[in-house]
Amino acid sequence: MTGPRGLRILIVLAAIMGADGVILASPNYLTSVTAQLKAAMDRCCGLLHCLALKGKYSAAVVTSGGGGCREVEDYMVAFLRHLGSWTVGSTGATAAELMKPADRARVLESAAGLGKTLVQAIRQQRTFPGQLADQNEFAARMKQVVQFRKDAWDYEYDYWKSRGWL
Ligand SMILES: Cc1cc2nc3c(=O)[nH]c(=O)nc-3n(C[C@H](O)[C@H](O)[C@H](O)COP(=O)(O)O)c2cc1C
Repeated sequence: MTGPRGLRILIVLAAIMGADGVILASPNYLTSVTAQLKAAMDRCCGLLHCLALKGKYSAAVVTSGGGGCREVEDYMVAFLRHLGSWTVGSTGATAAELMKPADRARVLESAAGLGKTLVQAIRQQRTFPGQLADQNEFAARMKQVVQFRKDAWDYEYDYWKSRGWL
């Protein structure tokens, strides 16, 4: 049975799967994402096993009280890359930057630029050869696990077979 919470995550996962591009965004909570976003990421295990965002595009956005955006951006970018997507970049802003007019204009411009880069990458179906080693390394790990767990993970096994990856 799928309760209301199960239904909500299914709606989110369906939206992700139907999109050409995904932007993950979170405030910096103790050098990580919010518990709510982490819970949603944890429900993406099936998508990770299937590299379900292969061929799609993604980006990450972080806000913080005083800094440390980069670590959180990197964490989200690694997750998005493991899902198989091309990551076009990430950006972050501190509360101080958002409150000072001169800095605010710069960080908002950076965020807008990231959005444009994402749209262009989708339109041009850009590839990012520098990300291939990372993607391939994770895919090799998943391939091993999917084969090893083929009885329990029959959906994943069939998915990999149907794509000619096994
Ligand atoms: C539980 C919690 C943990 C936080 N941890 C950090 C932190 O480690 N570093 C930091 O710079 N800001 C931290 N913040 C501040 C938030 O990142 C900041 O408030 C947020 O980016 C967005 O701003 P808002 O409060 O206007 O929504 C934390 C806030 C909360 C509530």
